[in-house]
Amino acid sequence: MTMNSGQSADIAALFEAYEAERFDLHRRRLNEQMVRVLRTIGYDVGFCKGRGQYLYDRQGRRYLDLLSGFGVFALGRNHRTVRAALRSVIEADLPNLVQMDVSTLAGLLAERLLERVPHLDKVFFANSGAESVEAAVKFARAATGRSGIAYCSHAFHGLTYGALSLNGDETFRRGFEPLLPDSICVPFNDLGALDRALSSRRVAAFVVEPIQGKGVMLPDEDYLRGVQDICRRHETLFVADEIQTGIGRTGKFLACEHWGVEPDIVLLAKALSGGHVPIGAVLMRKWVHDKVFNRMDRAVVHGSTFGKNDLAMAAGIATLDVLKAERVIENAARMGDRLLRELSALQERYELLKDVRGKGLMIGVEFGSPSSFRLKASWNVLETAAKGLFCQLITIPLLKEHKILTQVAAHASHTIKLLPPLIIDAKDCEWITRAFDEVIADSHSAGAVWSLGKNLIENALRA
Ligand SMILES: Cc1ncc(COP(=O)(O)O)c(C=O)c1O
Repeated sequence: MTMNSGQSADIAALFEAYEAERFDLHRRRLNEQMVRVLRTIGYDVGFCKGRGQYLYDRQGRRYLDLLSGFGVFALGRNHRTVRAALRSVIEADLPNLVQMDVSTLAGLLAERLLERVPHLDKVFFANSGAESVEAAVKFARAATGRSGIAYCSHAFHGLTYGALSLNGDETFRRGFEPLLPDSICVPFNDLGALDRALSSRRVAAFVVEPIQGKGVMLPDEDYLRGVQDICRRHETLFVADEIQTGIGRTGKFLACEHWGVEPDIVLLAKALSGGHVPIGAVLMRKWVHDKVFNRMDRAVVHGSTFGKNDLAMAAGIATLDVLKAERVIENAARMGDRLLRELSALQERYELLKDVRGKGLMIGVEFGSPSSFRLKASWNVLETAAKGLFCQLITIPLLKEHKILTQVAAHASHTIKLLPPLIIDAKDCEWITRAFDEVIADSHSAGAVWSLGKNLIENALRA
């Protein structure tokens, strides 16, 4: 163990002394079911170090992280510039969170964000993605005087009550109802349904992910333009949730730029944190902001104690600096094109591989029912046991044999999602393509992969 100075060395020592007990600690004191899940699928590695796009286990073996902490580590883990920025905040004795003052760093980060999204004028800072969604709902209602909020089937906007009310997946909602009234679900990619939903003129906002994270669902080419037109016609605010797609993930700063649309409100979080300090940002038109903060006695009508804290603001500023200095977004576009091309090419050889889609480094690899009789029987057995189980036959050997960490894109989904740090290089792309090639090849033979399937079925039945 390398000893640093002061308190950080204590924490490092604490981690080292107790890391092997992490599963036991969680089983006793936190979420026991998560421990069961990790043990069942063999994801109980116990990672000990993270740097860049890689994680390391106790033996120092290197893993390629295609989860990025659900999109947080755009710059990889522990980027030196972000760390230096955070250290400089701590060492500078800044007047953080005075509350009866305004934050210099928040002003600077707001300016820098709006330079990248020049059609918007104002920023509200929150502490997470879901908190940004909550703010957008409140701002939209206050600005329009309407109560309705429209959202899409399969949408994911976070799990607090307002955000959960806009969740298009029943499994997250069940047991927590009733949710926010006047939330209206419309199918993604269906402009007719959106037009009908908004025509009541009681809908304050339509909240949509430009590319849906659950399943990596891309919009039709004319969808977002149509959304913008319909929203304008019905005077409904167009809210783009770019919490996952933003900050370069898709090869542009905002995914909306691919389709040339200018939403009234843009939500950012995740990667803006530099992977270190939680943050959320709601970028919006001035008139929307001014409807909420419209009088002196309403100067604190919405906010949160830790919003705009110096560490979060510094992490955001450093992240934007690194994006530019290291041409991270350009790299995401290049590596994304390459991966899409190479993984798509596998489709010719593998009947179970149905689709490879995405933009930049947000990629979905979808599997589906095979045509040959030989594979159909095994596929059906798995599907009958638990829908979407097949993907585990890919993700488990990816981790075990190839040291690649991935996830299934949604509950009961046949899509595996790739969300790597945006700094991956050509060698990492080779690693990914080779690993997918080998694991998918195995899934087309009657070998070990399908016997793993048998174990999974037994576990699914037990659960
Ligand atoms: C598109 C989108 N919106 C909102 C959220 C919620 O963000 P948070 O988990 O920071 O609350 C997520 C998180 O996965 C997301 O992907």
